[in-house]
Amino acid sequence: MARSLARLPALTLALSLAASAAMAQGAPPGTPQGGQAILSDAARTLPVIAANGMISSQEAMATRIGVDILRRGGNAVDAAVAVGFALAVTLPRAGNLGGGGFMMVHLAAQNRTIAIDYRETAPAAATRDMFLDDKGEPVPAKSRDSGLGIGVPGTVRGLIHAHERYGSGKIALKDLIAPAVALARDGIAIEDDLADSLPRATARLKRQPAAAAIFTKSGEPFARGDRLVQADLAVTLERIASQGADGFYKGEVAKAIAASVREAGGGMTEQDLADYKVVERAPVTGTYRGLSIASMPPPSSGGVHLVQILNMLERYDLKALGFGSAEAIHLMAEAMKPAYADRASWLGDPDRVKVPVKGLTSKAYAAKQADAIDRSKARPADAIRAGDPLPHESDQTTHYSVVDAQGNAVANTYTLNFSYGVGLVAADTGVLLNNELDDFAAKAGAINAYGLVGGDTNSVAPGARPLSSMTPTFVFRDGRLAMVLGSPGGSRIITTVLQTLVNVVDFDMNLAEAVAAPRFHHQWRPDSLLTETGLSPDTLALLRAKGHRVTVGSTSGSVNAIMKVEGGWAGAADPRQRGTLAAGW
Ligand code: GLY
Repeated sequence: MARSLARLPALTLALSLAASAAMAQGAPPGTPQGGQAILSDAARTLPVIAANGMISSQEAMATRIGVDILRRGGNAVDAAVAVGFALAVTLPRAGNLGGGGFMMVHLAAQNRTIAIDYRETAPAAATRDMFLDDKGEPVPAKSRDSGLGIGVPGTVRGLIHAHERYGSGKIALKDLIAPAVALARDGIAIEDDLADSLPRATARLKRQPAAAAIFTKSGEPFARGDRLVQADLAVTLERIASQGADGFYKGEVAKAIAASVREAGGGMTEQDLADYKVVERAPVTGTYRGLSIASMPPPSSGGVHLVQILNMLERYDLKALGFGSAEAIHLMAEAMKPAYADRASWLGDPDRVKVPVKGLTSKAYAAKQADAIDRSKARPADAIRAGDPLPHESDQTTHYSVVDAQGNAVANTYTLNFSYGVGLVAADTGVLLNNELDDFAAKAGAINAYGLVGGDTNSVAPGARPLSSMTPTFVFRDGRLAMVLGSPGGSRIITTVLQTLVNVVDFDMNLAEAVAAPRFHHQWRPDSLLTETGLSPDTLALLRAKGHRVTVGSTSGSVNAIMKVEGGWAGAADPRQRGTLAAGW
């Protein structure tokens, strides 16, 4: 039970020594004094350790900005808000003002965990059939590549809501936004992720003059070493810094967003922006081998299916089977399939449809689903249907004791959906817009860009929030915060978070190893077991012999995780992308 987390004290000395060695090699320029940072190859095997706080993000400058806020006396929420605004500048393909997401907040002093839903909403003019053609068939370009697919952004209200309610009160919003303003105005070097991702997105971004003017060099891709200046975005950030959420949801910026969406064929109005609301929700909770899990509830499917799959896996001795063994991968893939089948039938916006969260996350339901797993052979997708969680649904409240933690914590996942969103910038604002509404089911049975099958519970409706897979998650051990983790990756987010957790708990990996280890993914349909490189050919052959349709490729996750260790926190940033950084102080 929770072996890695249980043996943490024994690990601490080794980890501390390793972190010191990494420091001795020299931290990257700009690492806050006392911060410890390791990158790339070292990050595959060693987490960073720090005593007073830790941030792990997909972009190093944003991590350092957050650490600086912590050092100045800000709490985890203050730092998370600063990182959120910074990533909108430094990681523009995913960090954003024009998208939405979910933030989990753990308040140590109150022993309270809150799930903040700032997911995008469909505009009031949205209609159920708006992504269909005259024959009633889905037209993917409508949801992925036009103004119709752009949801009303939630990020700015979400970050400001978190700061107002749960910030320390010691650091003003404008001071959290100031570093992002400077980076947008002064420009940033095109390196790491920007150098990798911008050239790939140039063809989409150059179609619109407003996007081309910022993200291309006169229509040509930027090269490594060029600078990305986002002067309009700096002005928009300054408006938010001085006016709060009104600086984005009302006035010039709202007008520009609505106009740009309409120009691209959508129906968003200034009123839609003014009406946007953040929702606080009760986290989804569960247990796994004695640990407690708190994760994001609907309209994300992440927390529900993370708990559901863990409940099934708890019935097997994965440690005895071993990491990377065909047996362990087979069982995990077979547990993933029914969860994704349920996702297609049961999940949606909880403000519109009743989602049977208690049933889906109950141990009894998992037992029933696990009983259907054949240890010797893979079940074809056609043999799996959504189950019936309703008998396991109950109004009885489940209580988990969360007594204390060493600190407040945030797990935040936010997105524009595609890399650089819909590829359109709201004119004169520098704000890249999302295409999140592709996460709706265009009609029952239609698939979205991630190949996820959608049902009626996730149909388009005015004001509705499209179903997500984002899985910002806390793990508690004996009532104390033990891990904070999450990942991008569309439909693969859930299985990415799952495997990181299982790697620590069942396979005794340290956090860096758990994040870096090769991953796999099955989402029921398409009926394909996707594996990263790094699993042995023997294992793949055994999986194929069991009937799995194995394909090798990227699972596109990128985990940023933190774990409690004696005397401090271990951090790990996924080495699959360049420029990621875990650092603390
Ligand atoms: N746009 C991906 C997700 O929310 O799951």
